[in-house]
Amino acid sequence: MNKLSIVGAGMVGEAAAQIIAREEFCRELVLIDVQGELAKGKALDVWQAAVESGSDTRVYGGSNAEMLQDSDLVVITAGVPRKPGQSRQDVLSINLPILDSIMLDINRHAPAATVLVVSNPVDVLTYRAWSLSGLGRDRVFGQAGVLDTARMKCFIAEETGFSARDITALVLGGHGDSMVPLMRYCAVGSVPLSHFLSSQQLERIVERTRQGGGEILGLKKLGSACDAPGVAIAQMVDAIANGRNRILPTVAILEGEYGRTGIAMGVPCVLAAEGLVRVIELPLDAQEQAMFDHSADQVVRDIAEMNAL
Ligand code: 2OP
Repeated sequence: MNKLSIVGAGMVGEAAAQIIAREEFCRELVLIDVQGELAKGKALDVWQAAVESGSDTRVYGGSNAEMLQDSDLVVITAGVPRKPGQSRQDVLSINLPILDSIMLDINRHAPAATVLVVSNPVDVLTYRAWSLSGLGRDRVFGQAGVLDTARMKCFIAEETGFSARDITALVLGGHGDSMVPLMRYCAVGSVPLSHFLSSQQLERIVERTRQGGGEILGLKKLGSACDAPGVAIAQMVDAIANGRNRILPTVAILEGEYGRTGIAMGVPCVLAAEGLVRVIELPLDAQEQAMFDHSADQVVRDIAEMNAL
């Protein structure tokens, strides 16, 4: 990939930038933030760290939206994080106008770019970004499930005692308390999780995964998670920049899959050089479908709340 821009030089944007630069996923990496000096300073730091790791990715930063010009991919991390006790939807009224103005900048300066939305509430803002972009769903999507799945893998590793390397997991649905950890699709070394864990243990993992972001926020208090979200972004960028055809849980615009149209939520998708090239519709049993519907209904309400603002 030639040029990647990250809009929002906060903790998450910086964490993602470090990995993207170090791994040379692009030739040029731009950090853009309303606080231009901060973006410039962080970009210098990230660039110098990358060079120490042997990378030739050129990193620079600033506040000028014209820096988006010719971006192949724009990652949006701008906005305020929630405070302890708040839901992700509670920051909508602040983060919506920020997202709107970034989409205006992208449409003006980088209309050909693929857009990865990370700012919260991510399902709602991904839907908004897609609506404003005029692009297909292959080009505008969001990050949530890679992070939620990583959290779930931690809790499975802890509960089973097995290496996280052998664990595969899957989380669908909205990025909120109603997310849908799909235990039937989780395994350790290809052995289904139910072989090792009781239903109480499985339930504990589901609940802790759903509260995973809030748990960190409650402890850090002044900021939400940043390292694991940074890695999650980098994985999605890698899939696109290196055309890997990876199956990753992605916030996607649904076009009838899982019985839903006109909303954005987490489902397994194929990410390749062209962007989101396929939504995978898994067969769900009645209980899983009910959880998915509950989560989808919440996202529908959240989008309605956004439209009323
Ligand atoms: C999280 O789950 C901030 O949504 C992000 O940590």
